Amino acid sequence: MKKYIVVMAVCIAVIGLQATSIKNNEPTKATLGELLFFDPILSKDKTISCASCHKPAAAFADTLAVSIGVNGKKGSRNTPTAMNLVLAKSFFWDGRAATLEEQALAPIANPDEMNLPIAEAVSRLQGNEQYKMLFAKVFNSEPNEKTLALALAAFERTLETSDSPFDNWKFSDDSTAVSDAVKRGFVIFNEKGKCIKCHFGSDFTANEFRNIGLFDGKKLSDSGRYNVTHKEDDIGKFKTSSLRNIAITAPYMHNGMFKTLDEVINFYNDTKKVVPGAVNTDTLLAKPLGLTKKEKQDLKAFMLSLTDKKFIKNTKSDTINPKKYKKANPKKNIAVAPHPILITI
Ligand code: HEC
Ligand code: HEC
Repeated sequence: MKKYIVVMAVCIAVIGLQATSIKNNEPTKATLGELLFFDPILSKDKTISCASCHKPAAAFADTLAVSIGVNGKKGSRNTPTAMNLVLAKSFFWDGRAATLEEQALAPIANPDEMNLPIAEAVSRLQGNEQYKMLFAKVFNSEPNEKTLALALAAFERTLETSDSPFDNWKFSDDSTAVSDAVKRGFVIFNEKGKCIKCHFGSDFTANEFRNIGLFDGKKLSDSGRYNVTHKEDDIGKFKTSSLRNIAITAPYMHNGMFKTLDEVINFYNDTKKVVPGAVNTDTLLAKPLGLTKKEKQDLKAFMLSLTDKKFIKNTKSDTINPKKYKKANPKKNIAVAPHPILITI
């Protein structure tokens, strides 16, 4: 709860700051970061931006099981949402980056993603009049590795959400905000489903690494956290995902193997039935949960209630439209800022 209040305060502060900057039309770290996030200038062949994989309408996740980088290169992991990371303690499915700044530069250089050495990315920005002007205004310096990372991370920190039917029910005490199915589903989430044992805290992730039974060393061979720590105990462990906006970030898991929340729930209900030879699975999932059909539906209803209203109503996003900067830079490829999609829950 405390954390929640802190997040709210941060959000209000960020939105407040953004509003001021819109008024003055002055760029901020976050608006500069937003421009960069949507700009393919950061990829080798200038075809891919961060937003190509972290799609705004999918809560900044990807709709593909694994994303496609430059030259049609397929990655090996599913693109997680880039939202609600202010409280995250590590980044990537295996937690190999410690800060958002450190994380932000990795996809640019990654040969499977944007494939552009950071030095080259920086020299492109230094050769671009618009970016030179914006970096000078925001950082009082030329674009460099550090300021590039700071700007991208500042934008990502604005992508917090806390206005879902669930939040309205639990934190604004509005018992009419959700259906009875959602309320029953939350009880299952906390009790029979044992989900809360791993998905806890204001973003439903404890920032821990756990093995839910998706590693068998054969077909499912991504050893996850083990790649970072080389501790045997970490084989097959991945960062516990946040469940915020989970309705719109399908497909699911580090490898994108489940297309729907029904598939996810059926998996948790009896993990061994879906992946018989899994190794090192968490003891919490040792026995089948024995959920009935109705309980599964209720659990799903609960998860759907975690969708931010921005994505439900067709309201305007509170992030800033990079089109604003188009005049300064008549470059063609700048994508338009987030356009929330209409979904019903
Ligand atoms: C080609 C697709 C692709 C592009 C382009 C891309 N990403 Fe990602 N992103 C991914 C994938 C896949 C992962 C997970 C990789 C892993 O865990 O090993 C990821 C992970 C992340 C995470 C970690 C989220 C978490 O929960 O830990 C953040 C933040 C992020 N990307 C931001 C960015 C930024 C900023 C850019 C642009 C500079 C970018 N991404 C470009 C595919 C992409
Ligand atoms: C033992 C800890 C643990 C338990 C118990 C657990 N989860 Fe998870 N959950 C995780 C981890 C870790 C991941 C990421 C695993 C991966 O990608 O391999 C995850 C991923 C997910 C995802 C996919 C997220 C995404 O963005 O792809 C959903 C949905 C989910 N869990 C829902 C649930 C529900 C519902 C329950 C209860 C029935 C539950 N979890 C119980 C640890 C747990």
